Amino acid sequence: MSVSDSEKEKSVKSSALSFQEPSQVDKEKRQFLVVATAAVGAAGAATAAIPFVGSMLPSERAKAAGAPVEVDVSDIAPGQIKTAEWRGQPVWIIKRTDEMTAELPKHNDQLSDPMCEVTSQQPAYCQNADRSIKPNIGVVVGICTHLGCSPTAKLEQGGDMGAGWTGGFYCPCHGSKFDLAGRVFKGSPAPTNLVVPPHSYIDENTLIIGVEAEMEA
Ligand code: FES
Repeated sequence: MSVSDSEKEKSVKSSALSFQEPSQVDKEKRQFLVVATAAVGAAGAATAAIPFVGSMLPSERAKAAGAPVEVDVSDIAPGQIKTAEWRGQPVWIIKRTDEMTAELPKHNDQLSDPMCEVTSQQPAYCQNADRSIKPNIGVVVGICTHLGCSPTAKLEQGGDMGAGWTGGFYCPCHGSKFDLAGRVFKGSPAPTNLVVPPHSYIDENTLIIGVEAEMEA
């Protein structure tokens, strides 16, 4: 056998050695690596899945940023109020009785802005006698326009507000008074009427706060 034949033979033997069956220890090592890799892969997939599932849940951030809020108004009794939250603010939905609504224009002379001329305080479709889309349902942001306290509902006539009180809201911080349409009484430190937020109705009983109503042509 020549020298080069001998080297070839060695080389073939060497290759054969590299393909020989793995030992029992090698098998166990490989099995461990496969399991470990699968586990890491599964953990990675789970980690990746969390933000995706999270993004499918209702977003509190979207709500805070101003996502519209639906309110069922069918369960508000006449003369009562319901509070919803929109953009982190309380929004009062007041279901006025016919008597309450009829009372509104009777005290215009006691109000700072009875005709709602400060246009920033309500959408154009609520710049009317009762500041509403539906005459008996008022929708206002329950934050005083003075320094931002939350006024107290004083819906009944008289009571601790005195004989001339016809129902509305009282801010105990500095004494501002508002009527049942959120209009501010003269002499109050609050400079403007309460804000009427953009709103509309999806159907007879479902109010949606944050979606503008269409103006009639
Ligand atoms: S914050 Fe309401 S009266 Fe001052």
